[in-house]
Parts: sequence; C-alpha cells; structure tokens
Amino acid sequence: MTPRRGPAAVLAGLGAYLPPQVVTNEDLSRRLDTSDEWIRSRTGIATRHVVTPGTATSDLAVEAGWRALKSAGDDRVDAVVLATTTPDQPCPATAPQVAARLGLGHVPAFDVAAVCSGFLFGLASAEGLIASGLAERVLLIAADAFTTIINPEDRTTAVIFADGAGAVLLRAGEAGEPGAIGRQILGSDGESSHLIEVPAGGSRQRSSGRPAAPGDEYFRMVGRETYRHAVERMTSVSTQAAEAAGWRLDEVDRFVAHQANARILGSVADRLGIPEDRRLSNIAHVGNTGAASIPVLLAEAAADGGLRAGHKVLLTAFGGGLSWGATTLVWPEVAAT
Ligand code: UT7
Repeated sequence: MTPRRGPAAVLAGLGAYLPPQVVTNEDLSRRLDTSDEWIRSRTGIATRHVVTPGTATSDLAVEAGWRALKSAGDDRVDAVVLATTTPDQPCPATAPQVAARLGLGHVPAFDVAAVCSGFLFGLASAEGLIASGLAERVLLIAADAFTTIINPEDRTTAVIFADGAGAVLLRAGEAGEPGAIGRQILGSDGESSHLIEVPAGGSRQRSSGRPAAPGDEYFRMVGRETYRHAVERMTSVSTQAAEAAGWRLDEVDRFVAHQANARILGSVADRLGIPEDRRLSNIAHVGNTGAASIPVLLAEAAADGGLRAGHKVLLTAFGGGLSWGATTLVWPEVAAT
C-alpha cells in the first residue's frame, strides 16, 4: 500500500439540512400510477423532503454548510468543495456562490460531479487539498435538489429521488486519530454511463445543433441493471476499504451506505455479513438524496445516538458514471447540528 503523504483529513464538524416540504407516497399515488405498497416494498421509502419552486441547490448547501461550521465551533475555512449533480446553473460552478454566501471570502471553491458517489469523491478531493498542504481546513458540502431534474411523469424515478444537503468540516490532523478519513477506494465505469443519465443540456446535444428531444432534459435510470451494479460494486469496494483499514468486517460497528434503495442496502450488508443492528438507514423518511445521502445520514445518526465516538464506521456509495467508493473512519467526538 502506498504510504500516505502529508497530513490526514480529520472530521471536525457535521451538519445537514432537509427542505421543509414533505411528500408522502399517497401524494405521489394521486398523480402517478403507483401505490404506497409498491414504493414501500420495492424501495423502503415512505416520505421524502423536496424543494419548492425558487429553492436551488445552493440554498440547501448554504444551510448545511453553516451547520457544519457551527458544529466545528470554528469557521476558518481554506477551501470549499461542493458535490452535486444539480448545480444552480450549468456554468459557473455553484461552490463559489456558496462560499460567498457563507462569508468565506475568496477561498478556492469548486464543484465535484460524481452523482450519488459525490460525497466520497468530494472527500477524496478535500483530503487531497489537505495532504498537499493547499488547505488546512476544507468545508465539503454534498447537496442535491434532485427533484428539479426528475421527470414528474416518470414513476420509476419520481418515487425514489428527493432533495437535501449534508456537510462536513475536515481539518488537517494525524492518520491515527479519531475522525481521520481512512484509505479511500474509488472507481468508475464509463462504459455503463447510459444506465444513469440526463441526455440533453450538455455539449453532446448542444453541438448537434438540434434542440433537446422532449424528455431528454430529465434524469433517467435503467433501474434493474443499476440495482445489480450497485450491489456488486458496493459489496466489493466495502470489502477493500475495510481491508485497507486493517479491519475485519465483523469489527465494523456502523455501516453507512448511500441510501439508494432499502433492498440494495440489505443485500450489500447481508453479503458483507454486517448484522441489522449495525446498519444505519434513514431512507424511509428522506428517500434517495443523491450526493447528500451519506452526510445527511451521518448527521442524523450522530444526533440521535446511532453513531457514537469510537464506533468503527464503514462508508460506501454507488452512483451514475458509473462511480463508486468506500472508506473508513473511527467516529470522533463531534457535535451534530
Ligand atoms: O442512487 C444511485 C443508484 N441508484 C440505484 O441504485 C437504484 C437502483 N434501482 C432500483 O432501486 C430499482 O430497480 C427500482 C426501485 C428503480 C425499481 O425496482 P425493481 O424492483 O427493480 O422494479 P422493476 O424496474 O424491475 O419493475 C418491476 C415492475 C415493472 O412492471 P412490469 O414490467 O413487471 O409489469 C415496472 O413497470 O414495477 C413497475 N414499476 C412500478 N410500479 C408501481 C416501476 N416503477 C413503479 C412504481 N409503481 N413507481
């Protein structure tokens, strides 16, 4: 294994924000050919939070970022990384506006696009900034207003995806201390990019000189095949990350996977041999919030006691790209906001 160079990234603050509007399965069943029974049994979702017209990703990101800074008890920040699939605009990146609205001045700020793996790819970017000495304190925000790209008529995606934001403040520290982000294992498979996509709105469609075909501006997912990849990739990458940390899988106290679908999470945890009482989940009331999924779950679990200092935590995610990742950390003493 390549030895780590430079300081480790250590989790020192944590916050999350969900927009207040809640949509139930009954609400969806009134306008789509679906049912509460189908959605609960196939996805594990009962309710989800959604943005209302006029609210953008940056609005969610600022709330979560502010909470993470409050939790850290120190608002010095050298860089801002925003993981999102739903930037406020195609150009420029949303992170600089978020940094400005948080009063962070002229710090470097950029977006990371790795769909539902965005938090973990953002974590790798933040860790790199710290390890290289470019920054001592990085605010990583993962925020998605996913419902803004969902086709409201598509029952296969409209029942799953939702909106939210989570954020962590990472500071330079020692590899062995609680909160230090462990070795990260990341991967991608661009040959299967068509499984999760928004076909229009980028250079491919625009350079064709033709307007977008109806519906092509919306998110699409080939559900069943994506499901299979998600289970395989998250199982394998979780195993590798635990090994890299020198942990046996039965030592993992808390398993935190991207909240894609309760059945996917169950299959992955079963394959890893992680018992139910060590699996964290909030999909029933938040749905799939894209990049925000992991930090929102971490913040909720830290607040309700599901995560406690000293727990060995295994994180994993899978998403469009395709993209996937996993890492580990020993949970630190951190205030949840
Ligand atoms: O977050 C990034 C990664 N995302 C994922 O990992 C998600 C992966 N995929 C999934 O979670 C699941 O594949 C879905 C929840 C999207 C779909 O569940 P499924 O059990 O794989 O259903 P399916 O696509 O195989 O469809 C089964 C049936 C179909 O009807 P027929 O062809 O059997 O008559 C669908 O048309 O269920 C139908 N269906 C629905 N019925 C009621 C699909 N969506 C709905 C719906 N309500 N909302």
